[in-house]
Amino acid sequence: MVPLLLLFSSASASATNVVWFIVDDLRPQLAETYGQSQMRTPALDGLAKRAVVFDRAYAQFAVCAPSRNSFMTGRRPDRTQAYNFIDDFREVGPDWVTLPQFFKNHGFVALGGGKTFHPDLPPNYDEPLSWSQDEPYVAFADDVCNATVGPVPPYDGDDDEICTVSNGSALWDYRMASIGIEWLSKYQGPKFLALGMRRPHLKYLVPVDVFESYPRVVDVPVQNTFPRDVNPVAWCCNYSAKLNGTDVYSKGPYEQAYDDYTTAELRRAYYASVTWVDQQIGRVLDVIDFQDTIVVVHGDHGYQLGEKACWRKQTNFELGTRVPLIIAAPGVASKRVADPVELVDLYRTLADLASLPSPDDSVQGTSLKPYFDASSYSNPAAAAYSQFDRCPNGTELTGLAAVQGRCNATGKADIPIMGYTLRTVDWRYTVWLDFNGSSLTGRWDECSLFQRNNDPAASFCATELYVHGLDEDLTDFENFEPVNLARHPAFFNISASLHAQLKAHFLSDH
Ligand SMILES: *[C@@H]1O[C@H](CO)[C@@H](O)[C@H](O)[C@H]1NC(C)=O
Ligand SMILES: *[C@@H]1O[C@H](CO)[C@@H](O)[C@H](O)[C@H]1NC(C)=O
Ligand SMILES: *[C@@H]1O[C@H](CO)[C@@H](O)[C@H](O)[C@H]1NC(C)=O
Ligand SMILES: *[C@@H]1O[C@H](CO)[C@@H](O)[C@H](O)[C@H]1NC(C)=O
Ligand SMILES: *[C@@H]1O[C@H](CO)[C@@H](O)[C@H](O)[C@H]1NC(C)=O
Ligand SMILES: *[C@@H]1O[C@H](CO)[C@@H](O)[C@H](O)[C@H]1NC(C)=O
Ligand SMILES: *[C@@H]1O[C@H](CO)[C@@H](O)[C@H](O)[C@H]1NC(C)=O
Ligand SMILES: *[C@@H]1O[C@H](CO)[C@@H](O)[C@H](O)[C@H]1NC(C)=O
Repeated sequence: MVPLLLLFSSASASATNVVWFIVDDLRPQLAETYGQSQMRTPALDGLAKRAVVFDRAYAQFAVCAPSRNSFMTGRRPDRTQAYNFIDDFREVGPDWVTLPQFFKNHGFVALGGGKTFHPDLPPNYDEPLSWSQDEPYVAFADDVCNATVGPVPPYDGDDDEICTVSNGSALWDYRMASIGIEWLSKYQGPKFLALGMRRPHLKYLVPVDVFESYPRVVDVPVQNTFPRDVNPVAWCCNYSAKLNGTDVYSKGPYEQAYDDYTTAELRRAYYASVTWVDQQIGRVLDVIDFQDTIVVVHGDHGYQLGEKACWRKQTNFELGTRVPLIIAAPGVASKRVADPVELVDLYRTLADLASLPSPDDSVQGTSLKPYFDASSYSNPAAAAYSQFDRCPNGTELTGLAAVQGRCNATGKADIPIMGYTLRTVDWRYTVWLDFNGSSLTGRWDECSLFQRNNDPAASFCATELYVHGLDEDLTDFENFEPVNLARHPAFFNISASLHAQLKAHFLSDH
C-alpha cells in the first residue's frame, strides 16, 4: 500500500526549544481532543489541532512518584525500583542521565518547576544534576485554602476537598505559568522547560467563577460498582472524601463510592480544575513560537471519578492507566495515533524530535518519531505495560480493607502483591501475583489465597481480560471494561497468549 501522504519530516525544521507540561492527575478529560463534551478546554484543544494526539497513551504505574521516576529517567519501574513513596531511582542509578539532564548535556538551558520529579523523590528535585544552574529549581508549594487565596463560600474550609477562591493569581498553576512565560522571554538560546502543573490534583482549589461555570447537576457514573467477577485486589483503595466539613468513606467495590451529592460535586470540581489548568497552560501557549518549539502535554497517570466504585488513581484499569498525550513539533501536521504508547517512550521521542544523538542503551522505551514522520505509520505489535502493587496488612487477606493503598510506605523488599497489565489495541489483560522482594519480580503463576478469592482449589491467580478494539468509543469513560472475560472458556486462548506476552515482558525487561 502506498502511503497517502508523506508529511515533511521534523528534521527539516530545527527545534531549539522544548516546553513540557506535566499535569498532575489529568486523565483525558478534554472537550474536543478527547471527546468530553461537558468540558471547556480551549487552550489544549487548540494545541491538539496542531499536534500529534495519542489516543492510547499509558503510564507505567498509576501513582505519582513511581510514574514520574519512570518517565523522567526513561526507565520502567522494575529498573528504577521506585514502587512507593520511599525509594527513588538515584538509589540504583546514581550515574543515570535523566531526560532534562540529557538536554542540559546537549547545550540546552534546562529549567524546571513544580511537580516534575515528585518532591523528595529524588531529593531536591535532583538538583544540581538534572537542571541547568542558570535558575534555581522552583520547588513545588501546594496551595492552601486560607486568606491568601480568598476562600468564597460555600466551599471555604481548609479541610475540604473543594475550596473556591477569589484570587486565582495566588494559586500554584498561575505562578508556574508566569514563571514559564518569564523564562521563555529571558532565555534566547535552546531551552528545555519542564513545568509541573498542580490541578486537577486534589485539593480542588479553583477560582469561584471557574467552578460556577460548571452547573450543579446530578452527575454520577453509570458503571459505579465493580464487575462481580473481578477480584477485589483490583479495587483502588478506601479513600475518604471531605466535603463541607464531613468525611465520607468509600463503601467498597460493590457499592457506589460516595453519595450522589458528594460524587457530583467532586466531579464538577475536577472538571473546573481541568479548565483552570487549561487556562494557565494557555497563557504560556500564547507566547510560544511553534516554529521552533516542541510542546508536550500529558498527565502522570489516569484517574477515576467514581467509575467502578473507584476514586483517584492506583488501579490497573484503563481509567487508572490512560493519560492524555499531546505533542506538537515544528513542521509536523496534526494527526491522531491509535497505537498504544507509553510515557516511558517520551525520553527517546523528545531526543529524536530535537535531532539529538540517540540516548544510551540503558534508556528504555521507543521513539515515537515515526508517527511524526509519516501520516500512515503504525506498529501492529504496539503494546503498553503497566503495573501496580497491593499491600494487605500482614496475614489479613480477606477484608476489603486489606487492599487499601498502604504500598506508598512499604519498602520494595516487602511488597507482597504486584498486578501486571498489558494493553493492546484489542485487549487489556491483567494478573495479580505474589511479588518476590529479593528479585523484584512477580512469582509468575503463583499467588496466595487472597488473590484466588479464598478458594484453595482455584487454579488461577486473579486475572482480568477486557475487550477493547480499534473501533471502541474511547470517549465513553463510564463503560470501559465492564465485564471480565478471563474466566470464560471462549477466551482461555487469548488469555493464555496475553499471559505469556506479559510474563515474557516483565521477566526480560526489568
Ligand atoms: C496561607 O498559606 C500559605 C502557604 O502555607 C502561607 O504562606 C500564608 O502565609 C498563609 N496565609 C495566611 C493569611 O494564613
Ligand atoms: C492576589 O494574590 C496575589 C499573590 O499573592 C497578590 O499579589 C494580590 O494582591 C492578590 N489580589 C487580591 C485582590 O487579593
Ligand atoms: C454546608 O453546611 C452548612 C452547615 O450545615 C450548610 O448551611 C450549607 O448549606 C452546606 N453547604 C453545602 C454546599 O452543602
Ligand atoms: C473504609 O474506611 C472506613 C474508616 O476507617 C471504614 O469505616 C470502612 O468500613 C472502610 N470501608 C471498606 C470498604 O473497607
Ligand atoms: C494491621 O492490623 C492489625 C490488626 O488488625 C492492627 O493492629 C495494625 O495496626 C494494622 N497495621 C496497619 C499498618 O494498618
Ligand atoms: C502514604 O499515604 C498515606 C495516606 O495517604 C499517608 O498518610 C502517608 O503519609 C503516606 N506515606 C508516605 C511514606 O508517603
Ligand atoms: C526470590 O528471588 C530470590 C533471588 O532471585 C530467589 O533466591 C528466591 O528463591 C525467590 N523466592 C521465591 C519464594 O521465589
Ligand atoms: C485454542 O482454541 C482452539 C479451538 O477452540 C483449541 O482447539 C485449542 O486447543 C486452544 N488452544 C489452547 C492453547 O487453549
